[in-house]
Amino acid sequence: MPVPERGDPVVVELGPGTGPFTAEIQRRIGGRGRHLAVEINPRLAGHLGARYPGVELVVDNAARLPELLAGRGVAAADVIVSGLPWAAFPPAHQADLLRAVVASLAPEGAFTTFSYVHARALPAALRFRRRLGEAFEEVVAGRTVWRNLPPAFVYHARRPRR
Ligand SMILES: C[S@@+](CC[C@H](N)C(=O)[O-])C[C@H]1O[C@@H](n2cnc3c(N)ncnc32)[C@H](O)[C@@H]1O
Repeated sequence: MPVPERGDPVVVELGPGTGPFTAEIQRRIGGRGRHLAVEINPRLAGHLGARYPGVELVVDNAARLPELLAGRGVAAADVIVSGLPWAAFPPAHQADLLRAVVASLAPEGAFTTFSYVHARALPAALRFRRRLGEAFEEVVAGRTVWRNLPPAFVYHARRPRR
């Protein structure tokens, strides 16, 4: 996870769900900067907020990320970590979400998003991969975590194209 070791980074988590990445982000950020999490499901957000008081929970649609950050006095995110199920989204929603990510990320920022291995060849997953390449100058696939159920891997994307 590309959380800078120094300074006060703004880290934004999208679709944290039950919080598999939340604890690790909290550990790396170590009380510096800000950690915002945008979760559309109020019940999941409630659990997460109670468990991680250091996280600023926002119950909303991640497609509204630029407005959500602006409303909280954040000009841009240094890191965006996504747990969103991209392959489950219809084309227009996928496009809206990715546009929101690109518009919210600092020019030197990094975007990390996970993908399931078994879904990699699905048309919606291929469409997402293609769009990621259009949205960022650099996209690198990380190693597969086989002990995740189901097995998953991450894409690391840098240099958003405006
Ligand atoms: C695949 S789950 C989270 C995965 C996580 N690895 C876990 O195990 O909980 C995706 C999460 O994204 C949330 N979500 C889906 N669409 C969203 C959206 N448009 N904005 C914010 N959160 C969203 C869902 O409510 C869910 O909690």
